[in-house]
Parts: sequence; C-alpha cells; structure tokens
Amino acid sequence: YSTHKILGIETSCDDTGCAVINDKCELLSESLYSQHLIHLRHGGIIPDVAQDLHRYNIEPIVSGTLQKAKLTMSDISAIAVTLKPGLPLSLAIGMKYAKHLARRHNKPIIPVHHMEAHALVARMQYNIRFPFLVLLISGGHCLLAVVQDINKFKLLGESIDCAPGEIFDKVARRMKLKNVPEYSKISGGQAVELAAAKATNPNMFKLPLPLAEYKDCNFSFNGLKTSVLLHHHRKEVEHKIVADELIPEVNDLCAAMLMATSKHLVHRTQRAMEFCHKRNLISEDNKLLVVSGGVACNDYIFNALSILCNETNYKIFRPSHKLCTDNGVMIAWNGLEKWKRNIDIVTNLDSLDIEAV
Ligand code: KG4
Ligand code: ZN
Repeated sequence: YSTHKILGIETSCDDTGCAVINDKCELLSESLYSQHLIHLRHGGIIPDVAQDLHRYNIEPIVSGTLQKAKLTMSDISAIAVTLKPGLPLSLAIGMKYAKHLARRHNKPIIPVHHMEAHALVARMQYNIRFPFLVLLISGGHCLLAVVQDINKFKLLGESIDCAPGEIFDKVARRMKLKNVPEYSKISGGQAVELAAAKATNPNMFKLPLPLAEYKDCNFSFNGLKTSVLLHHHRKEVEHKIVADELIPEVNDLCAAMLMATSKHLVHRTQRAMEFCHKRNLISEDNKLLVVSGGVACNDYIFNALSILCNETNYKIFRPSHKLCTDNGVMIAWNGLEKWKRNIDIVTNLDSLDIEAV
C-alpha cells in the first residue's frame, strides 16, 4: 500500500515555495526561497525582478523538495499550484512549471486560491470543523469570511484600500527602520512589532479608528498610514532630521500604529461575530476564529484578538509563524483536502489559463 502524495507549488508574490504532503496528512518535505532581501534593496517588489527570481529558483526548489523526501515525480498523485490572487508575472511562473511537470509526468493539477490556502492550512495543525470564522491579514489582503467548506467561502468584508502588512512595510521604509542593524533583514511588519515593544510613551500619538461609524465588516488602512506619515514628517521637521537618521519617537509611533491597527481589526472582527450570530452562520457549539496571513505573526495583534475571543466565547487559532506567511505547505495542504474530496482535479490542462507570460 502506498499513500497518495500531493506536491504543492506557491509563487504568487515574492516567495518560491514547495512542499509534499501525503494522504495521512504528514508533511514529507518543504522548501522556501524568500526574495525578501533582494526586494529590500529595491525599496519594494518590482514584478519583473520577482518573476526572474521565481524563474531561476522554481526548478531547484521543486527538485530539492522531492529529493529531501527521496521522492520522484512518479510518487506524486497530483500537483497543487496557486492560481490566484497575486502578481500575475509571479503566478505565471508557478503555473507554467506545474503544467510542464503535469504534462511530462501525466499528473492532474489542482488549482488553489492563495487566500483559501491561508485560511485552510490551520486545519493541518488543529482540529477545526466547518463552518468557522477567518480573519486573513497579510501584505496584500485583509478580509473576514465564514469558511463553510473547503471550496465554500462567504466573504463578510474586506479592505476598501490597502492591507495592514502593506502599511507596516511602507511606514517602516519611510522611517528607515532597516538602517537599524537589528531590523535590516526582517519584514517591515516584524520591525514595527519589535520597535513598538520598546516604546516608552505609546499614547503620545493620537491615531483615528478607521470606519468607526460604519456597521459593516470592511477595513481601511490608508487613513492610518497617512496619519502616521504625517506625525513622522512633523517630527522630522521638528528635530531637523537628515537623511538616514531616525526620529527619536520612532518606537512610540510604531506602538501607536500597532495599537490602532489592532483596535480596528478587533472592532471589525467583533462586528463579524455579531453578524454571524444574527444570521446563524456560526453555530453556538463551534465558535472558532482562525487568524492567518503574514500579519497574524504579530503577537500584539493576536493577543488583542484573543481578548475579544475570550469575551465572546470563541476559540482562537493561528497557524505556526512559518505557515502564516507565504509558503508551499499551505498549497499542498489545500491540494490534499481537495484531492480527498475529489474537488477541482484538473486533467485538461488547457483549461487553466495563466499561460500568457
Ligand atoms: O502572507 P504574507 O507572507 O504575504 C502576503 O501574501 O502578503 O505576508 C507578508 C506581510 C508583510 O507585509 C509583512 O510586513 C507582514 O506580513 N508581517 C508582519 C509580521 N510578520 C510579517 N506584520 C506585522 N507583524 C509581524 N510580526
Ligand atoms: Zn499570502
């Protein structure tokens, strides 16, 4: 008896990820190449550069993943690959390579939605039954949804402008946090979290609570970003800061931003819980909140959500940090869940259409 094994490939943004999971839900092998340091030098992700790096790394990452588990493509039952959403140029490399493997080894492809994979990977580590509430917070997205089944998501709300990770990254860049050696190699979000922990006067800056007067589950982070940048600019002028210097209040400002972001996320999540209760979308005996996506790594945010869950009798779950940020494991996991239920198994490869690039 040999188990079925699913190969997962992720290239939606700036990480080339790959993993193999078997049908006993065991993770056999995984690899991740992060382009983060290269993009840091450019001051942000340039899609062409990201695509070139994926093109260069996809083959060694996939064959390395198979080799680590002493597997070949003949051991694989299906290839799961991110279909959307993401940077089109980046997505195209993963899909193209998956199709190449699928044709050459005669395997089906299981297309995976990147955000669904972020949500469902929690089921790999915890016993989480459908339907459950999910808050996805990353560098590209912010949304609340009820996960009713593997392929059935009810969207409750999303960001009307940018994502929380995006404002952390942009503010960190403007604050020149990467000039601090301790922060030079980590993401903007991580740098903001570390700086905030050193704040001595976090209440010094007043930031607005976004969309406070709206009774829905949508998010907005642009206003927060603008307020933070304005405070930052004023302090630069006040202290006559020159290039590459940090304002003395940098930690306090990071803390203020983190607190305001947490407050907004908690406010909207609480609203989603009320809505689910009113509409019977979540049952009384299965009140579960999953928090995932890169920003879910933030302990301050997670603690704020945990307090809310404590008050509302929800159980809160978050995948391990490595599985919150982009990775190949979540794609393989989603592929396996679909494989077991015979959902989205595509043998006619021409019907998968990010072939343009
Ligand atoms: O999910 P992810 O790896 O990629 C996207 O799909 O966007 O998330 C990356 C984002 C980045 O914006 C990064 O700054 C943020 O997650 N992030 C954090 C933390 N770690 C990563 N934000 C806040 N606190 C953290 N500890
Ligand atoms: Zn992501």
